[in-house]
Amino acid sequence: MGGSESLPQVSLTTDRVVLVTGGNTGIGYETAKWIAMMGARVIIACRSEERAQRAIEKMQKEFREEKTKGTPGLCSSETLAVEFMALDLASLKSVESFINNFKEKENKLHLLICNAGIALHEQEYTEDGYEIMFQVNYLGHFLLISKLLPVMLGSGDDCRLVLVSSEAHRAASFDLEKAQGKHHTKENFKRLLYYGNSKLYQIMQMYSLNRRLQNTNVTVNCIHPGIVETEISRSFTELQLWRVFFQLSKAVGKTKTPFEGAKTLITAAINPKFKDTRDAYFIDMKITQANSLARDQQKQEALWKYSIDCLKGFLKKEDMEYLEKD
Ligand SMILES: NC(=O)c1ccc[n+]([C@@H]2O[C@H](COP(=O)([O-])OP(=O)(O)OC[C@H]3O[C@@H](n4cnc5c(N)ncnc54)[C@H](OP(=O)(O)O)[C@@H]3O)[C@@H](O)[C@H]2O)c1
Repeated sequence: MGGSESLPQVSLTTDRVVLVTGGNTGIGYETAKWIAMMGARVIIACRSEERAQRAIEKMQKEFREEKTKGTPGLCSSETLAVEFMALDLASLKSVESFINNFKEKENKLHLLICNAGIALHEQEYTEDGYEIMFQVNYLGHFLLISKLLPVMLGSGDDCRLVLVSSEAHRAASFDLEKAQGKHHTKENFKRLLYYGNSKLYQIMQMYSLNRRLQNTNVTVNCIHPGIVETEISRSFTELQLWRVFFQLSKAVGKTKTPFEGAKTLITAAINPKFKDTRDAYFIDMKITQANSLARDQQKQEALWKYSIDCLKGFLKKEDMEYLEKD
């Protein structure tokens, strides 16, 4: 594994509650594991219990190996405090039941990492009627965030929300009337455009949230992890071009391992240097700038209203108090 010295050297305790969506594989797995190895209590929110439990066993094994190697910065406990909770972002009912379970067990949340995602998926609609990348990457997380923010607001100093976006946001366009892509057929559905749109919406949401969270203990930032060799290409069915793009990127040394991809996310999540940072878009552990479309405040607010409308059966009046601050 190696390279832990390039991570922020931070000592965490199990009083720090961390939630990572999609923590069972890829970038989310490495992020959850390393933050747990630094001492925090980590909940991985995943759609498959079996995959999550296997991931937790693997984390425990890799923790023991890192200890044997004498890797610096590891917590002193014998086992990692990592647990699983069920969450399927493609179902708003599942998100709601996750939230109820979470609130029954926990009364604090210090770090929320919205990492779960799917890319370049073929045209498909969820049980709630939304385009699947829109819902999994963006809308499902919007509901999760909306209901968990009050917990974070009551959790004390330095609470952070980090959204895993992508440079694909630069391939997006903004037209809410076409946000669900229903005017397309399966054949002409533009997978990159709709993936890019979902990643653009995450960045726009960051700005909208920070406007509402000014002067609070909660900050919101986004990251792009790089081109990372993970299981993300599962949904690239039939997209030979994209497989070739990945292979070429690999050949010229432009791809990252999941650990390397996680470094930017871990930095944004726990580096004390970024405690009060808001509205940042991180690449390679540095703050860069999202595109001008993402930074358009009028469009951000239009998206905000659109999203709340999509969730109207799920958001209650009390959830809306801080959401409607503006
Ligand atoms: N890899 C890259 O090059 C790259 C580049 C830019 C941005 N990103 C972003 O990085 C994030 C992590 O991706 P990754 O590369 O680590 O991909 P990955 O290995 O495929 O991991 C994605 C995670 O999301 C989970 N997930 C998918 N659908 C879900 C659903 N309906 N409900 C709950 N969880 C769900 C997966 O669960 P299962 O294991 O059960 O499927 C998995 O845990 C994504 O948001 C992606 O868009 C990746």
